[in-house]
Amino acid sequence: MDAFLIEGGRKLEGVVKISGSKNASLPILAATILTEDDVYLENVPDLSDVKTMLKLLSNISKEISYEDGKLLIKQGGEVQTVAPYDLVKTMRASVLVLGALIGKYHSARVSFPGGCAIGARPIDQHLKGFEAMGVKIDIEEGYIVANVDKLRGARVVFDLPTVGGTENVMMAAVLAEGETIIENAAMEPEITDLASFLNSLGAKIEGAGTPLIRIQGVKKLHGGSYRVIPDRIEAATYFIAGAMSGGEVIVDDLIPEHIDAVLKKVAEAGIDFKVEEKRVVVYGGKRPKPVQVKTRPYPGFPTDVQAQIMSMLTLARGTSVIVETIFENRFMHVNELNRMGARIKVEDRTAVVEGVEKLKGAPVMASDLRASASLVLAGLVAEGVTKISRIYHLDRGYERMEYKLNALGAHVERIKE
Ligand code: UD1
Repeated sequence: MDAFLIEGGRKLEGVVKISGSKNASLPILAATILTEDDVYLENVPDLSDVKTMLKLLSNISKEISYEDGKLLIKQGGEVQTVAPYDLVKTMRASVLVLGALIGKYHSARVSFPGGCAIGARPIDQHLKGFEAMGVKIDIEEGYIVANVDKLRGARVVFDLPTVGGTENVMMAAVLAEGETIIENAAMEPEITDLASFLNSLGAKIEGAGTPLIRIQGVKKLHGGSYRVIPDRIEAATYFIAGAMSGGEVIVDDLIPEHIDAVLKKVAEAGIDFKVEEKRVVVYGGKRPKPVQVKTRPYPGFPTDVQAQIMSMLTLARGTSVIVETIFENRFMHVNELNRMGARIKVEDRTAVVEGVEKLKGAPVMASDLRASASLVLAGLVAEGVTKISRIYHLDRGYERMEYKLNALGAHVERIKE
């Protein structure tokens, strides 16, 4: 297994370009199931989660190749409407093929995703949405088996805003008969991007990005070409890296509005930065002021940046409080940060972070994607060497992370353990 060795304390300086969004690419790739025509996608990041989705698509029938840097997805031979356990177990987002398979083939057999490191993460809301559209759902031998003769539009009211649930129901509804209305829909930019992609293929979706989405079913989707939005979580991660280390870091090729909640929090912590049209320039190195953070669905503070901001706040001049409201059990980075000299106490969903003057390098273990990112940030500013084991978690979501950091002046080495 690979590990990172990070020599801490180097100033970061220069430009870091943000890759395409993982969480937008995954549903958009799943949505290509809805058309038999060719689809070209630009700005899809080269990540292990994307590779898992491409494997799922080629299992189903798609042929995948690259043309001039664009991903080309073509219809292949015989269709198999199955997502096997071996693939689904490595990536929960595999469940996103369910909505597209139901929409296009009226039948699907998708392995149940089960629990994961950051909590139980049920999919009851996805299934409730499909059932409202007339789909019969059975659970057989660990698989969700979905069948429907006539897929019809329906009113779907989610109990809570779910990103994956909104995307899944949206995909199922695009080719259904009549109108589907999703109430209490999630509003994340990745949902808006999925809707824009589907509309570019001939779908009729209105209201994506608001809590009420209306989808008029159409007979067929055609092919097309689409560019995925930049990854707001990757952008926020490099922005915080810049805020923590001593130099001037330019986070380039992002949509600043998508990380507005993070920008506001970092401003409140007293860090200087300026926002331009497609970039943010951060002047780091100052000890932050303590702040209160509560994770919320978009446009609130993203749960996917909770671990990274905690890393920054370990060095604040005072005590910060972080409340995680989206996922239970999403504080696995805390013990590891404490091994590096941080002073964090957790009770239930609240972390109390008492700022210290400095962190010290230590061997630590990555436990999930964003927790790993927080350890990298801590390692970059810690005194001495930090070894982060199990960085396969990072490879799921950060494209060429060590190259991007080293180009900014960091010293991050990938080693085999
Ligand atoms: C997506 C993101 C993930 C991010 C999360 C929240 C992808 C591939 N992943 O995950 O990075 O952390 O949004 O912003 O885009 N829930 C239910 N029942 C359901 C579905 C969800 O109770 O049927 C709960 C979950 O347990 C969680 C909350 O709803 O507490 C939000 O989950 P959801 O928005 O569905 O997250 P994902 O789509 O899995």
